[in-house]
Amino acid sequence: MAPRHFIDIWKLQAEDLRGILDQARQMKVARTGWPRGKRDTDAPLSDQSLAMLFEKNSTRTRFSFDMAMRQLGGQTLIASASEMQLGRGESVEDTSRVLSRYVDAVMIRANRHEDIEAFAGVASVPVINGLSDRSHPCQIMADLLTLEEQGLTLKGARLAWVGDGNNVCASFMHAADRFGFSLAVGTPVDYRPAQRDLDIAAHQGGQVELFDTAMSAVEGADVVIADTFVSMGDADADRRLSDLGPFCVTEQLMDRAQPGAVFLHCLPAHRGEEVTAEVIDGPQSLVFEEAENRLHAQKAILRWCLNR
Ligand code: CP
Ligand code: NVA
Repeated sequence: MAPRHFIDIWKLQAEDLRGILDQARQMKVARTGWPRGKRDTDAPLSDQSLAMLFEKNSTRTRFSFDMAMRQLGGQTLIASASEMQLGRGESVEDTSRVLSRYVDAVMIRANRHEDIEAFAGVASVPVINGLSDRSHPCQIMADLLTLEEQGLTLKGARLAWVGDGNNVCASFMHAADRFGFSLAVGTPVDYRPAQRDLDIAAHQGGQVELFDTAMSAVEGADVVIADTFVSMGDADADRRLSDLGPFCVTEQLMDRAQPGAVFLHCLPAHRGEEVTAEVIDGPQSLVFEEAENRLHAQKAILRWCLNR
C-alpha cells in the first residue's frame, strides 16, 4: 500500500482532515492533567520510530513532534541536514531510500518544498511536511483545533490573514475549502500569496479574497492571523519590515474585527513588528494554546499517517 504522506492540506480529503482534528481533541481531553511525559494508555505507536530532519531552525515543531511520539509510545531520531551526508551533496532520493529502511515515518523541515516532494516520491514510509518555503500544514491543523476548542464553528467562519502572503498563509488557503471557512488575505500588492496557491484554492472552491489593506481584510473577521514579516530564508529583511509595517496587528485593527474576535500567530513572534505586545499578550490572543496544540494535532497526524 502507498504510504500516507502529510505534505499539503489540499492533497488530503476533507473527511481525513476532519478525523484528524476530532482524534486530536479526543486524545487531548483523555490525558487532561497528566504529566506530559506519561504515555497514552493505548500507546498506539509503541513499535514505531520517526526520523526528523531539519534544514531550518525550530522550537515548536521539534519539541512537539518529539513529545508526540513519546506520548504515543514511539521513538524519534533527530538530525539537522547539515550534519548528514545530505549536507555534503548526497541526493534527497538516496537519503529517502535509506531512511525508509530504518524508520517508520519521516518528518522534514526543508528549505525547498520540492525536496520534500522528491523525498516522498521514493519513500516507502509516510513523509510529513514540518514546514517548507511553500507551506506549513501541521501548523494549520493545530490552529484549527485551537479555534474549535474555543467554540468557533469553522464552517462559515471568517478568518483574516494580515501581512506577508507566505507559507503559513498558503496552508490556510489550502484549508479554506476543506473546512468551509472563508479567508480574507490582506497584504501589500507585492506580498500577495503565490499564484500557484491562489489557483489551488480557486480550483478547490475555497473562498479566498485578497485585500490591499489590513483594515479592509479584518472587517467583520472572527479570527485575525499574523506571522513574521521575515520568514526563514527571506534575504531582504529591512525592505520587508518597511513594506509590511502598515500591516502590524494593533488593538485598533482588532477593533475592526468582530467583537470577541481572537488572534492567532504560529510563533516565533516579533512584538512591535507584525503584532503589538498589547494584542499578542492580551485577552484575545490564543498563541500559546496554538503552540500547545501542535503536540495534540501532530499526534493525530502521526496516527493517520501510520494508520493506527
Ligand atoms: N510555529 C513553528 O513552526 O515554530 P518552530 O519554527 O519553532 O517550529
Ligand atoms: N513563516 C515563518 C513561519 C515560522 C514557523 C517561516 O517560514 O519562517
